[in-house]
Parts: sequence; structure tokens; C-alpha cells
Amino acid sequence: MSLLVAVTWETQPWVERFRRHLPDRDIVVLGESFDKAAVRYVATWGPKPGSLSGLPNLEALFSLGAGVDHLMGYPDLPDVPIVRVAQDDLTHRMSEYMVLHCLMHLRDQRRFDEDQTAKRWRPDRAPPIAGDVRIGIMGFGVLGQDSARKLKTMGFDVAGWSRTPKSVDGFQVFAGEEGLTPFLNRTDILIALMPLTPDTKGILNRSLFERLARGGALGGPILINAGRGKLQVESDILSCLDDGILQAATLDVFETEPLPKDSPLWTHPRVTVTPHNSATSEPEATARYISQQIRRYEAGEAFENVVDRVRGY
Ligand code: NAP
Ligand code: GLV
Repeated sequence: MSLLVAVTWETQPWVERFRRHLPDRDIVVLGESFDKAAVRYVATWGPKPGSLSGLPNLEALFSLGAGVDHLMGYPDLPDVPIVRVAQDDLTHRMSEYMVLHCLMHLRDQRRFDEDQTAKRWRPDRAPPIAGDVRIGIMGFGVLGQDSARKLKTMGFDVAGWSRTPKSVDGFQVFAGEEGLTPFLNRTDILIALMPLTPDTKGILNRSLFERLARGGALGGPILINAGRGKLQVESDILSCLDDGILQAATLDVFETEPLPKDSPLWTHPRVTVTPHNSATSEPEATARYISQQIRRYEAGEAFENVVDRVRGY
């Protein structure tokens, strides 16, 4: 049996990793000749259209990341379980990013960076403390909940919002359309950690930003999006920053990636840009995780973190 590595970048390093973790298997790659009937598993990210067809004995598809929107629109997506990455290495990276950026906004660190560049000594402001700031996490799944716990440890007042009602120890969780406005009304820093689906596309728009809390400790609402770029309407973010509906934003993901050089987001004084690396799937940890899933499955256990195709995540 073989594992097909269907990626569009760094193919050879992925092959070598899987050979190390699955030494008893054939690891084959797109673009070279291989026996299609022998392929039981595919590990993939952003496959080219048509490349996953004609594998008659395929048993599972592994996404090399947490999100699966790169597969959902794929024509002729094979009808096998899709397993996504949900593992500590990636989860901890995302929580580190969220703690970093929430603290940066709390302490107005961008202003001190500018002051240092200008050699300006301005210790003239007592910042609020974390307990004064309400964080709202849209997408209260694996990543949202871990970030919530770590932000709560820092003292922030954290709540979540998810598609379906849920009870998570220590947190108020709002759900669905009826929970959205009350959730936004109590939120000073809005974190987006949702998957991209037809329901969430463009959800981070002016009408949503207008419902965020006013009069909070940070002087205006702040957006942090590390979910997917197409959750956000960038023209609305820019106009809301300009008319004070938003105070600042940290964006890790963008409508178009890489972020085009002429995007005004690059140079906006109240936007922090990172290159979709808040939580990269560290290759070694990801190859280990997928290999473990294969061994579990072959030992008669179910795959973990299987995507629900109807929900789209
Ligand atoms: P997850 O465990 O599946 O959680 C997704 C959360 O979003 C769930 O709470 C879900 O609600 C909620 N949700 C989905 N659709 C919704 C809707 N229409 N309305 C309200 N809530 C909705 O996923 P995860 O592992 O936390 O990952 C979340 C996303 O983060 C990924 O899909 C990916 O796009 C992104 N990501 C980005 C990076 C990066 O480097 N920037 C890295 C990893 C992941 P329910 O709980 O009710 O199902
Ligand atoms: C990265 O964006 C992922 O979905 O893992």
C-alpha cells in the first residue's frame, strides 16, 4: 500500500518525513509514475484540480493543515473520510500568537515601537489591565478554546461564539445568529478563529464591527483574524479604521495571499500584518500526527478529527 503526497510545495522534504515515520510503506508523489490502485491514503494541501481522481482503493485524505477549505471546493473530491490537523503543536502556536497580539494591543506596543524609532520618551499613559478588557472569540473549537484558556490565565474576560450551543467550563459561550449581537456587544477585542465556509465568508464586515462594544478600556474595538482571509471584507476593515468603528487590527490572513504589495493594509499605522504564520503546521509534528492516524486506523480504531462535509469543516 502507498501514501500519496499531493502538495504543491516542498514535495521532497514531505516524502522524506513520511518515509521516516512510515518506513514500511511506499511514499509516492504526484507528477511521477506510481500504481494508482496501491494508494490507500493521500496527504495533501492545495492539490491541483483532477489530481486526486482515479484512486480506486483510497481510504482517507489527510489535510496537512487544520483548515479544509482548500479541499471543499475541489471537483470530484473522493468520497472518503477527510482528516484534518488538530494537535498540540499547532494549537499551542495559535494560542501563543493570540496572547502576544492581545497583550500588544493591551499595552499599545505599536506606539512604543514608534516612540523608540523617534527616540521619544513618553511614559505618560497608564494602560488598562487585562481584567478591564473583554475578548470575544468567534469560532470556539479546538483553537478558540485553547486560546481562551491562556488569555483567561492572563486575566482577560473571555467569551466564545460558535455555530451550535455548547458548554465550556469557565466561559460564557454564545451561539448562532441569536447569540451573535449580544456576543459582539460585550466584546472589546474580537478574535476570529472560524473555518471558511459558505456561512462564514465575509462575516467580518462593517455591519458586524458596528455591533462591537463602545466605550471599552482600549478606546475602541480591535479585530484579530487568524481564521481565513475570506472571512473578512478588507475594504470594510479599512473604512472602519478610518471612521473609528475599529481602533486597530492584527491580520494574519487575507482575501488574497500573499497580501498584494499595493494593499493599504501593509502601511496602515493601526494594522499589524503577519504572513499567515500564526500557527503553521510544523512539518515534523504533522507527519508524525498523520502516521499515527494511519496506524490507529489500521489497528481498528476510528480516525480522529474527521471533517463533516455537510458543515464544511
Ligand atoms: P474547529 O475545532 O473545527 O472549530 C471551529 C469553530 O468554528 C467551532 O466552534 C464552530 O462551531 C465554529 N463555526 C464554524 N462555522 C460557524 C458559523 N457559521 N457560525 C459560528 N461559528 C462557526 O476548528 P479549529 O481547529 O479551531 O480551527 C479553526 C480554523 O482556524 C481553521 O478552520 C482554519 O481556517 C484556521 N486556522 C488558521 C491557521 C493560521 O495559521 N492562520 C492555522 C490553523 C487553523 P461549532 O463548535 O458549533 O461546530
Ligand atoms: C493553516 O492555515 C491551517 O489551516 O492549518
